[in-house]
Amino acid sequence: MIVDNMKLFREIVDLKEQLKQDRASGKSIGFVPTMGALHEGHLTLVREAGEHSDIVVVSVFVNPTQFNDPGDLERYPRDLDTDMEKLETTPCKYVFSPSVKEMYPEKDERIFNFGALENVMEGEFRPGHFNGVAQVVSKLFDIVEPDKAFFGMKDFQQVAVIKAMVKQLNSKVEIVPCDTVRESDGVAMSSRNNLLTSEHRDVAPLINKTLKEARNLIPERSVEEVKEWVVSQVNANPLLEVEYFEIVNDEDLQPVNAWNSGCTVGCIAVFAGEIRLIDNIIF
Ligand code: PAJ
Repeated sequence: MIVDNMKLFREIVDLKEQLKQDRASGKSIGFVPTMGALHEGHLTLVREAGEHSDIVVVSVFVNPTQFNDPGDLERYPRDLDTDMEKLETTPCKYVFSPSVKEMYPEKDERIFNFGALENVMEGEFRPGHFNGVAQVVSKLFDIVEPDKAFFGMKDFQQVAVIKAMVKQLNSKVEIVPCDTVRESDGVAMSSRNNLLTSEHRDVAPLINKTLKEARNLIPERSVEEVKEWVVSQVNANPLLEVEYFEIVNDEDLQPVNAWNSGCTVGCIAVFAGEIRLIDNIIF
């Protein structure tokens, strides 16, 4: 289903009023939060949302509170017109793109506590990141009040944090995780890929390739050996530098030290020059 009368909302009251009417006429609402610079990964979430909801809302908002690196926030690509053009080809009905002032009329002082979930990986290396994500997503959920919200497995830890947040807030929003969408060479699609130099883009496929090859080492090689192997394979390329590679349980995201610890996921963050890429694989 393609919607031809897509509407842009800048202000919370207007979107809330519109959605109130839609809800009153019995429509279900699917929501895809994004920071824009949309690519096929985002658009796949929007299509998935269209399959499961009458009305699809997409937010485009570069949320300052989740950036722990000011350079990253400044560099983050912003182009609403192009994003709108891409959304025209999807079931998106309402685009919500507020200003920072609209979303944060005053400083958000809320501190969430996700316990062990946020002490590893992205939580450890990007302090405050998930608190900022929870601040903005909780506000967006309050505004949109979706029945379902769609998130990509590319940000595996983000999905776990959002599920924990929904529980903590007694929210009724159903969180729907969606598969990672990749370029034909295996690179996970990301808004940050456009910022890579061509040399770094050329070597980026090594990340996913290494994760896939690591699968073949299991269970003969120990968790520790697989971890060392992945890090050394990626770091062998002088243009890439691993920040972390962890093998964690898919439920509590805690590092495992044996293969019989339930479903395990390998999660990696790699610097390709100034640009930080993340990816993961289910083992
Ligand atoms: P952003 O990075 O724009 O991603 C928006 C959504 O798209 C997230 O759920 C993310 O996991 C998903 N996504 C990104 N790349 C994907 C890919 N290659 N395949 C599948 N899904 C993909 O994540 C955020 O924004 C923000 O933290 C946000 C949740 C919007 C809060 O500000």
